[in-house]
Amino acid sequence: MSNTKYNIPNVWELCFLSVPIIVPLAVYMFEKCCSNKYRKLNSKVVLITGASSGLGETLAHEFYSHGCALILTGRSNTELERVKSDLLSRSDVKNVNKPCTLVLDLIDQATIEGVSQKVLGVFGRVDILINNAGISYRGRAEVTTAEVDYQVMLVNYFGQIALTKAILPSMIHHKSGHIVAISSVQGKIAIPFRSAYTASKHALQAFFDTLRAEIARHKVKVTVISPGYIQTNLSLNALTGNGSKYGIMDESTMDGYSAEYVAQRIVEAVVNNEQEIIIAPFYARLAIGLRYIWPRVYFWIMKCRAERQAGQKM
Ligand SMILES: NC(=O)c1ccc[n+]([C@@H]2O[C@H](COP(=O)([O-])OP(=O)(O)OC[C@H]3O[C@@H](n4cnc5c(N)ncnc54)[C@H](OP(=O)(O)O)[C@@H]3O)[C@@H](O)[C@H]2O)c1
Ligand SMILES: *[C@@H]1O[C@H](CO)[C@@H](O)[C@H](O)[C@H]1NC(C)=O
Ligand SMILES: *[C@@H]1O[C@H](CO)[C@@H](O)[C@H](O)[C@H]1NC(C)=O
Repeated sequence: MSNTKYNIPNVWELCFLSVPIIVPLAVYMFEKCCSNKYRKLNSKVVLITGASSGLGETLAHEFYSHGCALILTGRSNTELERVKSDLLSRSDVKNVNKPCTLVLDLIDQATIEGVSQKVLGVFGRVDILINNAGISYRGRAEVTTAEVDYQVMLVNYFGQIALTKAILPSMIHHKSGHIVAISSVQGKIAIPFRSAYTASKHALQAFFDTLRAEIARHKVKVTVISPGYIQTNLSLNALTGNGSKYGIMDESTMDGYSAEYVAQRIVEAVVNNEQEIIIAPFYARLAIGLRYIWPRVYFWIMKCRAERQAGQKM
C-alpha cells in the first residue's frame, strides 16, 4: 500500500519534474514569437503600384501573408480583381484585412493626387508605399520617338515620384512610413538598346537617394531595390522605339529569378530597414563595380555587346 503511494508522483512532484522541460520551452516559444521580425508587418497599410501582374502581384501575396492591409493599384481593374480574389481564396493565410483595389494610371499625372487623397481618406495612412509599376523598352536611341521616351519616363519616374510626393506629407505627419522604389540593375549601369528604360531607372535611383537623406529626420525610410532579370511579362509588355509592343519573351527574362524569390527578399529588406539591395548574380555585380572602378573596360564591353546585337531583334 505504502509502496504504491510513493511510486505515483503527486501534482507538486509532477510540476517540479516538468520544470526543466517547460521553462526552456516557454523561453523558446517566447523568443520565437517576439523575434519574428515579420510580425511588425501585421495590419500595416501597404500600397503597391503595378499589383496586377508579375513582381507586384507576387509582392501582394507576400505582404498579404504577413497580415498587411493591401491597396492594389494598376491600370487593369479586371486583373486587380483577379489578384484580389486569389488573395482572398488563400486557405493558408489568415488575414482579417481585406485587400482593396484602385485603378491608377501613372501616365495620367493629374489623377495621382486625387487617388492618393482617396486612399488617405479611407485608410488614414499608408505605412508602406511600393513603387513597383514599370514599363520596359527595346530600341535604338536614334530612331526612338520622343513620345516613347516620355512614356517610359512618365511611368517609371514621374509617376512614381508624383505618387510618393502625394503620400509623403501624411508619412511625415505621422513620423513613420517606408517608401520602396523598385529600380533595376539598369538603375546602376546602362546597357545598349535600353536608353529610355535605363535612364528612367537611373533617375529613380538618384531621386530616392536624395529623398532618403532629406526625410530621415522625419523617421520615414527609403529602400531602393535593384533586381536583375525576373521571370515576368516585362519584356512582353515592353515598348519599341515606335511605341508598338515588343511582345517577345526574352531569354534573359525567362532565365531570371523567380518573382517569389525577389518578393521575399524585398519584404525582408523592408523589415530589416535596408537602404538598398541589389538582387543580382555575380556577373551583374561585377559589371556594376567595373563601371565605376574601370569605366574604360566597361564601355568597351558594352560597345562589343551593341555591335553583336545590332543585327538582331533586341
Ligand atoms: N522583370 C524583370 O526582369 C525586371 C528586372 C528589374 C526590375 N524590374 C522592375 O520590376 C517592376 C515590375 O515589373 P514586372 O517585371 O513585374 O513586369 P510586368 O509584369 O510587366 O508588370 C508591370 C506592372 O506595371 C503596371 N503598369 C504598367 N504601366 C502602367 C501605368 N501606366 N500605370 C500604372 N501601372 C502600370 C502593370 O499593370 P497594368 O498593366 O494593370 O497597368 C503591371 O502590373 C518594374 O518596375 C520593372 O522595371 C523588372
Ligand atoms: C503573363 O501574361 C499571361 C497572358 O496575359 C498571363 O497568363 C500570365 O499569368 C502572365 N505572367 C505573369 C508572371 O504575370
Ligand atoms: C515598329 O517597330 C517594330 C520593331 O522595331 C516593327 O516591327 C513595326 O513594324 C514598327 N511599326 C510601325 C507602325 O512602324
